[in-house]
Amino acid sequence: MSKKYDYPKGPRMPSFVQTFHWFFRVYPFLTRCAERFSSPIRLKFLGFGKVVMFSDPQSIREIFLGDTNVLFAGEGNSLLEPFLGKNSLLILDQERHLRERRLLLPPFHGERMRHYGQFMQDISEKIMDKWPVGKPFAVDNYLQEISLEVILRVVFGIEDQQKFVTYKKAILALLRHMDGFGALVLFLPVLQKDLGRFSRWGRFQNDMRKFNDLIYEELKGHSTESGEDILSLLINATYEDGSKMQPPEIRDQLLTALLAGHETTATALAWALYWLDKTPRVYQKLCEELDSVDEWDAKTLSRLPYLDAVCKETLRLNPVIPIVARRLQQDYTVNGYHLSKGTLVAPCIFLTHHREDLYPNPQEFRPERFIERKYSPYEFLPFGGGVRKCIGAAFATYEMKLVLATILRRFSIKLKNTKLKMKRRSVVITPGKLQLVVHER
Ligand code: HEM
Repeated sequence: MSKKYDYPKGPRMPSFVQTFHWFFRVYPFLTRCAERFSSPIRLKFLGFGKVVMFSDPQSIREIFLGDTNVLFAGEGNSLLEPFLGKNSLLILDQERHLRERRLLLPPFHGERMRHYGQFMQDISEKIMDKWPVGKPFAVDNYLQEISLEVILRVVFGIEDQQKFVTYKKAILALLRHMDGFGALVLFLPVLQKDLGRFSRWGRFQNDMRKFNDLIYEELKGHSTESGEDILSLLINATYEDGSKMQPPEIRDQLLTALLAGHETTATALAWALYWLDKTPRVYQKLCEELDSVDEWDAKTLSRLPYLDAVCKETLRLNPVIPIVARRLQQDYTVNGYHLSKGTLVAPCIFLTHHREDLYPNPQEFRPERFIERKYSPYEFLPFGGGVRKCIGAAFATYEMKLVLATILRRFSIKLKNTKLKMKRRSVVITPGKLQLVVHER
């Protein structure tokens, strides 16, 4: 009898052990997998069915360019549904996904995006004014504040400080539920029991209600006159059949943009500071490039190749989101592996970025590699790929460069704690609490 499906080898640990490693020790877990098996690797996670992880560019290309009627990313992200809602761009597939994506893409691209440069810089400078010079402080809180204020401004057009504080409180309350063990409650359906304020899920539901009230209140009173923010865009948007977006749909897209666009960028910036501190040669070379510019404004960024390479190298070594996934809607073949319907096929960003054949000496922080060589979208993929590629990729890269340049032009930096304590926050992997010491230059 011929074998119908081809499943690759993978770790033999029981699924609950693999799930534990996945949540709490993801980088070492992935590294050990790659030491023992070549791409693809079969993994077993509680409640996820069959998982096959790929880290070779050929397979990743096939997945990213594959049939979107078979490779469902929305289902691959279903874990996030209790948080983002069923209408979130991240959760949708096929026609509806493309329809909403077409609507949400323009504000994050081209001229419209560059228009945000000035306020990104203003917000960064305002928050940096609060940094205690000469004394160690937890920089990640400030990086989060910058990226949250930037995205709130883009999404809601919020400028009023009081309103910003109210939103910030509501969002941070939600995010706290996604920290450490708390994340398990959100992600594992068996733990989703509302036992009032005595249960984690109950407290999460309560914070979610508060956040929804805030959004629905905003929807009622929002002025769409300027038309520049995403909320105005969604309120005014009309689909081809003449219908309008309904409030629950708007709520889900707003929350998605807020969450996807804030933790990720702040975390990428934290990693950049970590690597610059660890690699004085790169730090110095970057400062020299930044100092070589006389007239400084947001447009200057396009003339700074080393800054661009530093940001790329940061996202290569610590891609923030280590893996993306697509759920097969029917039997499907990826790079010769015939896999059954329901399998989760997962391009692993982290392992692809650590391949010795693509990135010699992959553990080294060496931005020059991005100047010496151009990588394909299947070799360098911090923002995923295909029709699901992150809609905020250009925006996040721009913000990352601008904030980093603004910090380094003003301050010299040194980390106090150099021992890395990586931590998962929701779906992103952070370097943990970084204690930074700054001096005016
Ligand atoms: C350094 C910062 C960021 C990183 C590393 C990042 C990474 C990613 C990744 C890996 C995906 C999944 C792609 C896939 O499945 O192939 C994604 C999707 C997405 N990201 Fe980002 N992201 C960042 C910033 C942002 C920002 C600023 C926004 C602003 C709105 C954003 C909004 C989204 C949305 C809406 C999706 C879903 C796209 C879709 O399914 O069509 N992200 N991002």
